[in-house]
Amino acid sequence: MTEQHTLLWESGQSAAPLPPLVDSSGVQAEVDAAWSRGTLSWEQLKQMPDLHGAMMETLRRYPVAGGHRARIARPLTLAGYRLEQGLDVEVAMTVPHFLEELYPNPMQFDIDRFRPPRNEHRKPGAYAPFGLGNHTCLGAGIAEVQLLVTMATLLSIYALQLDPPDYHLVIEEHPTPIPGNHFQVQVRERRLSSRPEGRI
Ligand code: HEM
Repeated sequence: MTEQHTLLWESGQSAAPLPPLVDSSGVQAEVDAAWSRGTLSWEQLKQMPDLHGAMMETLRRYPVAGGHRARIARPLTLAGYRLEQGLDVEVAMTVPHFLEELYPNPMQFDIDRFRPPRNEHRKPGAYAPFGLGNHTCLGAGIAEVQLLVTMATLLSIYALQLDPPDYHLVIEEHPTPIPGNHFQVQVRERRLSSRPEGRI
């Protein structure tokens, strides 16, 4: 479900006409080049910075879990607030994803944020789509691989577009931000010819 949520956003960004992620970035070229070399391997995936950036930016901009519940084990004072033992708190760990001082123009979908020299995510607490601390997501690694492989597979088979192409994205909170009910992506073109025969 968490991966479906992320893929939904990522395919929406890939299909968005202005600016089209796939056409204006190297994502499609990377995907085509990788498949043209044969089966999609881990080595190939590590050499796809645009696809990786698109995945990371999707998880930053549209995090599945905005926060998590915690119970105060020992009393403490945090930023002037006294938190007593046993108190339930919500740790909104993805708030930093939207801070201008960490991510300039934070609402902008920008897949180059994570490349050197920018490395905007490389500050303590700046990037937490999989949580932070002792209970960080145990499936983060497998989730990332599945997201990369699924997007690379989809983009190698289909050219996507918004339906209708001029659809203006509406964001609804349920409670995490998801595309509104009328959000649809349609297949503009089947691109199976770009794939080595028989490989899915
Ligand atoms: C896009 C996909 C995913 C996202 C965004 C995601 C995100 C998260 C988040 C935010 C947490 C809570 C971390 C915290 O409390 O600080 C979590 C916990 C967890 N996730 Fe994921 N997750 C994803 C996929 C997966 C997958 C595929 C697996 C298993 C194969 C998995 C296994 C777990 C487990 C076991 C925990 C609990 C860790 C603990 O409490 O110690 N997750 N995940």
